[in-house]
Amino acid sequence: AGSTLLAIVAGYLLGSIPFGLVLTRLTGAGDLRAIGSGNIGATNVLRTGRKGLAAATLLLDLAKGFAAVALARWIGGDGAGAFGGAAAVLGHCFPAWLRFKGGKGVATLMGVALALGWPIGAAYAAVWLGTLAITRISSLGGMSAAVVAPFAALVWGTQLQAAVLACLCALVLWLHRANIGRLREGTEPRIGGRK
Ligand code: G3P
Repeated sequence: AGSTLLAIVAGYLLGSIPFGLVLTRLTGAGDLRAIGSGNIGATNVLRTGRKGLAAATLLLDLAKGFAAVALARWIGGDGAGAFGGAAAVLGHCFPAWLRFKGGKGVATLMGVALALGWPIGAAYAAVWLGTLAITRISSLGGMSAAVVAPFAALVWGTQLQAAVLACLCALVLWLHRANIGRLREGTEPRIGGRK
């Protein structure tokens, strides 16, 4: 139990690094909190017009989720992996350094899914990118992927992974409630081009 707790603390700390905010501040790309949705994720970094910076945010937010699972496994074995990953998503969404106002978890959850099992990560990525390619709506892609993740874990992973991913999916959907409202109104912006 001690090692699982350590894995959870380490996962939270890793997840709580707000790469989007750090990168945009370091490069003078502006204050993410005052742009677009105000979110600290890659989608909103893209709204600054800096594509490379958005890609770096996506990769780093994904990598910290992956790393949290790998680290947790190293510390406490397979069971701890899912908890370390969950802690990373919680850290991203509720970072102590930003008064617990963080991101929406989509990229970090992608890294967690990939580390839990590559078929789970592949399913997540396929649904995410597929939905994004068809609709060009970032939030819709992320939410669809989050919904698929627990089912993918039921098929290719363990019941513990599926249960943890189901909780994280509920969190991701909750954090997208403003996006869901805009989707219902038909005002959710699309990536690239027409708003
Ligand atoms: O990962 C966040 C994405 O799903 C939505 O971001 O900035 O459009 O609210 P945003």
